[in-house]
Amino acid sequence: MAEELKIAIGSKEKKYKTFVSQVESLMNGETNLMANLANISSAYQMTFSKLWVGFYLVDSAANQLVLGPFQGPIACTRIAKGKGVCGAVWEEEKTIIVKNVNIFSGHIACSSASVSEIVVPVFDKNKQVLGVLDIDSKKEGDFDEIDKIYLERIAQLITNTL
Ligand code: SME
Repeated sequence: MAEELKIAIGSKEKKYKTFVSQVESLMNGETNLMANLANISSAYQMTFSKLWVGFYLVDSAANQLVLGPFQGPIACTRIAKGKGVCGAVWEEEKTIIVKNVNIFSGHIACSSASVSEIVVPVFDKNKQVLGVLDIDSKKEGDFDEIDKIYLERIAQLITNTL
């Protein structure tokens, strides 16, 4: 595993390219899901410094998402399927970008400072959603197709470790 996180200077895309290769080396040979999600959250936060980044994981018995490894302020621990952005991503099995949370019906405000958000599904080897990657920003419209492309790559890398 890498001993020190490299953070590229320059465009968002340049930062993402370095981030993805760093995540690959961080997860190299490590199959423990929690360890990998914890390091991804930390590496993302060190690279991009957003309000909140972390994972919610499917609790099938409860039909809810439950809070997993994250970086940032304390957050709600459970989200029902279909509720909020995270629950909608679980249900729809695709990435959702919210430019302004105030106009997303049903958004769950864990922090009043959150203005925009991207949530990406993470799949298991059987193509079932095992959890979601959620990133929140204080800035309106802070996430776009570039974030989607690279964060979906991160989600695929997680699936590859399972
Ligand atoms: N805003 C999310 C809830 C999780 S927190 O932002 C960390 C949602 O609407 O699902």
